[in-house]
Amino acid sequence: MFHPLRVSEVERLTDDAVAVTFAVPPELRETFRHLPGQHIALRRTSGGEEIRRTYSICTPAGADPVLRVGIRLVDGGEFSTYALKELAVGDLVEVMEPAGRFVLTPRAGRFAAIVGGSGITPVLSIAATLLAREPDARFCLVRSDRTVASTMFLEEVADLKDRYPDRFQLVSVVSREEQQAGLPSGRLDRARLSGLLPALLPVADVDGWFLCGPLGLVVGAERALRGLGVPRARIHQEIFHVDDAAAGATPAASSAAVRAPAHSTLTATLDGRSGTWPVQDGDSLLETVLRSRADAPYACKGGVCGTCRAFLVSGEVRMDRNFALEPEETEAGYVLACQSHPATAEVELDFDR
Ligand code: FES
Repeated sequence: MFHPLRVSEVERLTDDAVAVTFAVPPELRETFRHLPGQHIALRRTSGGEEIRRTYSICTPAGADPVLRVGIRLVDGGEFSTYALKELAVGDLVEVMEPAGRFVLTPRAGRFAAIVGGSGITPVLSIAATLLAREPDARFCLVRSDRTVASTMFLEEVADLKDRYPDRFQLVSVVSREEQQAGLPSGRLDRARLSGLLPALLPVADVDGWFLCGPLGLVVGAERALRGLGVPRARIHQEIFHVDDAAAGATPAASSAAVRAPAHSTLTATLDGRSGTWPVQDGDSLLETVLRSRADAPYACKGGVCGTCRAFLVSGEVRMDRNFALEPEETEAGYVLACQSHPATAEVELDFDR
């Protein structure tokens, strides 16, 4: 559910990125309390058209957290252009409560993250919360950015280094600049990470890996870790911005290779209320629900954010792509409604589970 929140600060982070802070009134404090690593969806209506985007919260989680997100300008991105060029203190923005399962509940142990570009945003919240709350935790951050000037949250990361010199380890790599003092250059791909990580930390002793950024970096990092013997269950990932060319190169997420039936109906439960509707040709299950229930949850409609996650109660579906659900979630029966099409004459979804 969306709530109108007032912008209390807009801070320029780089030439193409800002941090936006929202004022949360006391009656909504509980609603907007977040776990470290979660995101919020923002909604804007412009020219009669609704735009939704999800942005990760960069601030530490806590009893009275600050709700602040990092927004980087995306080429042709309507929301990010608005955020960078127009959004000002005092504006009202519709904000959905925090969501997402790319989270780390603070506990003792050794943790690490490999991030690219704006992928630092949720990891900043994860690392800051962990190090502040758990004195027996260590965190290693490997970050890759195009240039030093385009690096988001430089100060905040430097602050973690100052505050926790023995427990926070940082490696920064820039991909498009000549090597600078202390900064290796070049892309962080699978081969490079396979050599770099064992030299940095005892890979087998890391309790959780957090990968976040563009698809290529996350896929390369996951392959490097798997090649180094890291179990799949210790790897958590969140992908930002999947373009269609990249998505086409990735295996489809289909959970059923069954041909679509000529006619199918969808029954869905949302906020305790159920309805049954015919699925129109080519429509996703999310689009089918949205025809009658405008409150159906979604943000990206691209299989990336996971906001539309629903439990498949009965029937089968074909998913076009899935960059949001972990294998355990699909095995447990969850699907992305925005990417799902019926593969049986009747399908039932539960958005409340
Ligand atoms: S709305 Fe983002 S994954 Fe479906």
